[in-house]
Amino acid sequence: MMFRNLTILSASAAAMLLLFSSGASAAAIDPDKDLREQLLAIPLTPNLGGDTTVDTVGPRAFRSIAPNADNDLVFDFLFGQRMFDVVWDHYIISPALDGLGPLFNRTACRECHEGNGRGQPPESVGAPMKSILIRLSVPGQDQHGGPNPVPKYGDQLQDRAVPGVQPEGQAIMEWEEIEGSYGDGTPYTLRKPTVKFTNLAYGDMPEDLMTSPRVAAPVIGLGLLQSIPEENLYALADPDDANGDGISGRVNIAWDAVNKKMATGRFGWKANVPTVHHQSAGAALGDMGMTTALFKTNLCEPVQKDCIAMANSMAASVGSPEIVPEMFDPLVGYMMLIGVPQQRDADNPAVQRGEQLFHGIGCTGCHMPTQVAGDDTLPALQGQVFHPFTDLLVHDMGEGLADNRPDFGASGSEWRTAPLWGIGLTYEVCLCNFYLNDGRARSISEAILWHGGEAESRKEVFRNLGKDQRDDLLAFLGSL
Ligand code: HEC
Ligand code: HEC
Repeated sequence: MMFRNLTILSASAAAMLLLFSSGASAAAIDPDKDLREQLLAIPLTPNLGGDTTVDTVGPRAFRSIAPNADNDLVFDFLFGQRMFDVVWDHYIISPALDGLGPLFNRTACRECHEGNGRGQPPESVGAPMKSILIRLSVPGQDQHGGPNPVPKYGDQLQDRAVPGVQPEGQAIMEWEEIEGSYGDGTPYTLRKPTVKFTNLAYGDMPEDLMTSPRVAAPVIGLGLLQSIPEENLYALADPDDANGDGISGRVNIAWDAVNKKMATGRFGWKANVPTVHHQSAGAALGDMGMTTALFKTNLCEPVQKDCIAMANSMAASVGSPEIVPEMFDPLVGYMMLIGVPQQRDADNPAVQRGEQLFHGIGCTGCHMPTQVAGDDTLPALQGQVFHPFTDLLVHDMGEGLADNRPDFGASGSEWRTAPLWGIGLTYEVCLCNFYLNDGRARSISEAILWHGGEAESRKEVFRNLGKDQRDDLLAFLGSL
């Protein structure tokens, strides 16, 4: 391992924010100085994932193990990859791979996260949901302060079910078009979804229903994001905008089902889940109807009698949990150790001008280019200096982007700053080109044009740039 010559400035564990430049000499973050300024002073390198960076491009760009991971972990990683790609079944093909449903959205993790990339909304109005799901709730909170599930439907619409069980219903996304123009007069069209339901099996949705369509998020570099010390996120947060930059990021404190306590949310479009383990087990249960040691009970609402009966008979034949720890733990390990693709074209002058603009117009106010991993993590991740372009905080992004559905501490208009690493490889990986939480943006520029709220002034600067400068900024984003 390369990280041996650590310089520890403070004995306090909380202050052990260590910095390494390419593993050689170690510099340390000074806990008495502003963290944001210190992180912003670190130059960007093409190795966006630090030593976990991979140089793969194309459809497999998001599938490689971090090259610095211990050799002993390779087998587990590949086994975890199988678990991510495998189609779970309801019938007895092999008891180990059974347990799908009774209610579910998709039969495999990869069906939503194609190539480990992001998902997309339905191709046309009325087409089935593929790699997007609809979260549901009513006003109020659940026992942990999270969204209050909808009676008879729960907190997510499951649009498929095994034979003998009724799917909950189907969602239809319709689009409203909104015209706008750049400062130089060039017109553009944005689109915004509304969600409707058909074939509802358990009666109408309540009047006060809140919905949030969410596309699958890319799953690269998640171990690094999980390894950012909590105190760094608090140091970056500025809930009352004390520094007066118009940006007031907040930590979303959410329920951590693994450690059974409230914790710093990091994953999901609203940072409503604290750990990769919790997110993966939640996906297994909510999206595929597969129980794990963490979430042992299938999601059947009391009125869903056919679901309950099927879950009981499946538990009797398949056993519980349906994904045994020997299979689930490598899946989590896989999610933790996927390498981050290297930046391409870093020497291209347009990319370099775009990087200057990205800083100059204040995108870094939320898309923090650099983060540092702590020590309480896998050896390959410890102390890494990496470039995710996120502060993992939630920000008010304005009415235009609001889903009006609070999620733990995040309000209806707050979203987690989306990491931007890998964004230039989106199309190569998923053969899709949709951005933002519900996939409404059909290009990176549309995604920027949707920024409002705390990002309104930066969005306006972007909108008023000349075409050459916009192209430079997009060249930079495309290189990530
Ligand atoms: C039905 C589609 C669907 C399936 C199937 C699915 N996911 Fe996801 N995944 C999503 C969506 C949507 C999100 C964003 C969730 C949110 O914002 O609440 C997500 C987010 C994630 C994240 C967090 C990424 C981030 O940056 O925040 C992880 C990890 C993840 N999924 C793992 C899995 C695993 C493991 C499986 C299989 C057990 C799986 N997913 C199956 C749709 C899906
Ligand atoms: C106030 C904080 C903030 C600022 C400033 C900001 N962003 Fe964002 N950005 C976000 C958040 C939050 C999201 C996720 C929004 C969502 O999913 O609805 C996001 C999403 C994006 C996305 C889409 C990412 C994806 O995976 O879909 C791009 C591209 C982007 N921002 C670029 C920029 C650029 C370029 C700038 C500067 C002009 C900028 N942002 C300024 C907070 C910010």
